[in-house]
Amino acid sequence: MVTKIILDTDPGIDDAMAIIFAEASPDIELMAVTTVFGNATIENSTRNALYLKQKYKLKADVAQGADKPLSRAPVGATTVVHGEKGLGTVEAPELLEVEADSRPAYQYIIDALTAEPGEITLVAVGPLTNLALALAAKPEIVDLVKEVVVMGGAFGENGHRGNVSPYAEANIYDDPHAADRVFSADWPVAIIGLDVTEESFFSSEYLDQLRDDAGQVGQFIWDVSRYYLKFYCERVGLEGCHVHDPSAIAYVINPQLFTMRRGPVRVVTEGPAAGYTIQKFEQRKYMHDQWKEGGSQLVGVKVQSESLLDLYRRTIIDFSQKL
Ligand code: BDR
Ligand code: CA
Repeated sequence: MVTKIILDTDPGIDDAMAIIFAEASPDIELMAVTTVFGNATIENSTRNALYLKQKYKLKADVAQGADKPLSRAPVGATTVVHGEKGLGTVEAPELLEVEADSRPAYQYIIDALTAEPGEITLVAVGPLTNLALALAAKPEIVDLVKEVVVMGGAFGENGHRGNVSPYAEANIYDDPHAADRVFSADWPVAIIGLDVTEESFFSSEYLDQLRDDAGQVGQFIWDVSRYYLKFYCERVGLEGCHVHDPSAIAYVINPQLFTMRRGPVRVVTEGPAAGYTIQKFEQRKYMHDQWKEGGSQLVGVKVQSESLLDLYRRTIIDFSQKL
């Protein structure tokens, strides 16, 4: 079965890896790429998305989204991880032959879900601002979406907590208020957080092999990953990188790769733990319980990482042979 998706993203090096993965997979129809601030400014993240649309002749629309969080002070682009303009040392040309849709991302999302009720999965791999804006403008979308898959958060499983603060993951830290609204809305959400994304590695050798086996697309993934690997080597002490955003795409293709735990999720929105994601997964009743309204979400707690890496490799190699 082919899953139709809108990919909400802040490209971003691993976002680019995820966009290409989604386009490459025969199990996914990439209907649109909606952009958000985060790894790069909204202008750069949109230009990067359009660059990929042009480079890989994507049928997907690109719609530009939010340039800042709902209410927190903006954190600023993550240039230390993703480079000055978001794609490491690779620069998208200033002038492109393709254009963004005229609608803002949240409106694009509303229109698409309304036109095809129950058919579209929203996959969000950046700050959740566009999704929160869509929910605010049309709360009925909770019944129109097929599923929401989010790369974000950290629940302390497998020893993984925050990556930008002791308890917060970057996408959630960038807009904790939006994340709390998205996670506590009554719609089906699957959360692929650091608990599982930090369990999979694209090693330096893996990326070298992909460059050698997957033609120009392998070369492109290798090129954009140079800056990312430098960050990982110098700041994290790893010869490779975690597999963040492509893991959300892997979940769409094959959810069986992940063990998921059910329970409502809330986000700390203020103070030193802002961005901390907390799931209530036991059945106990409490006198005071602000987890009990809204939905019950799925959180990834385990991943078959070898199979995930193999899926990514095979999908990209097959795609390279069709280009
Ligand atoms: C997430 O933050 C961004 O840097 C990545 O693109 C990914 O979505 C990982 O914490
Ligand atoms: Ca991202």
